[in-house]
Amino acid sequence: MSASKLKKIMNRAGGTKKETMASTSHSSEISQRDHIAFALEDVNLFYGDFQALRDITFDLPAHQVTAFIGPSGCGKSTLLRCFNRMNDLIDNCRIEGAIYRNGVNINSDSVDVVDLRTHVGMVFQQPNPFPKSIYDNVAYGLVCQGVRSKKVLDEAVASSLKKAALWDEVKDHLRRDATQLSGGQQQRLCIARAIALQPDVILMDEPTSALDPIATARIEDLITQLKEEYTIVIVTHSMSQAARISDKTAFFLLGDLIEFGPTDDIFQNPRDTRTEDYITGKFG
Ligand SMILES: Nc1ncnc2c1ncn2[C@@H]1O[C@H](COP(=O)(O)OP(=O)(O)OP(=O)(O)O)[C@@H](O)[C@H]1O
Ligand SMILES: [Mg+2]
Repeated sequence: MSASKLKKIMNRAGGTKKETMASTSHSSEISQRDHIAFALEDVNLFYGDFQALRDITFDLPAHQVTAFIGPSGCGKSTLLRCFNRMNDLIDNCRIEGAIYRNGVNINSDSVDVVDLRTHVGMVFQQPNPFPKSIYDNVAYGLVCQGVRSKKVLDEAVASSLKKAALWDEVKDHLRRDATQLSGGQQQRLCIARAIALQPDVILMDEPTSALDPIATARIEDLITQLKEEYTIVIVTHSMSQAARISDKTAFFLLGDLIEFGPTDDIFQNPRDTRTEDYITGKFG
C-alpha cells in the first residue's frame, strides 16, 4: 500500500489526539475523524478456500446505530466478528486488508486482542448469561480484570444494569440465578455485562430474534438510548427493525457489500436494484 493511501486511511480512522492536533488545524476535519469508529479497507476473509467477504471498504460511524442486512450466508456475522477479532478463534479463517480503529489496524500482531475485546463488546443471538447470579454476571468481566473492591463492583453493577434498562426489575434480587430471568431480561443482562467493561462499541448479532415483540421493543428502545454513549452495530433479518432503529445500513450479498448509506436512503431510494429487491422481499 502506498504511503499516501495509508495516510488517507489513518486520517479517516482517527489516530491519537496528538497526531490529530498536529496534522490539521481544521476543527471540522478533527470532528469528522472522531466520528468514525472503524475504517475498513479492502477486507477479504477466507474460511479455508472459501471466500466469505470480498473487498469490503467503508467507514463505520461512531455513536450511531449501523444495521447489517442481507440474506442468510452473505457474511454479516463474519464481518461483525472482524471488529473484535472473534474470527481469530476459527482455525481455518484468514483475513486480508485493514480495519483501522483510532488509527491502528486492529489486525496487526501488536494489537492486544483482550484489550480490543474489552473496548468492543458483543451480544449474541441467544441470550447467554453465565449460570451465576445477576450480580456476578455483570461483575464478571471486572473481576477477571482483577477488580476486588466491593464498592467499585457494586457501583459498576448498578450503573450497568441502569444503562441496560434492567435495574428496576432486578435491584431487589441481584443474587438470583440469572438463568431464571425471562429471555428479554437475559438479553438486557448480557448487554449490561458488555457495558460493565466500558466499551466504545457494542456488536449485536440478531439480538432480538429469540424474543417476543414486547421484549424486542424494549431492546430496540434501549439500543436507541445507548447510541448516545456507544457505537452500535446490529445484524438483523428484520427490515422493519433496521428501518426503525438504525442510522446507517449496509446491505451484503454473497460476501460483497452492495450498498452502504443512511438508512432512509437505503430503504426509500436504494441505488442498486439488488438492495431494492431484498428490502421489498423479492428474495432472501
Ligand atoms: N467457521 C466457518 N467455517 C467455514 N465457513 C463458514 C464458517 N462460518 C461461516 N462460514 C460461511 O461463511 C459464509 C458467511 O457466513 P455468516 O455466518 O457470516 O453469514 P450470515 O450473513 O451471518 O448468515 P445468517 O443470516 O444465516 O446468520 C457462509 O457461506 C457460511 O457458510
Ligand atoms: Mg449470522
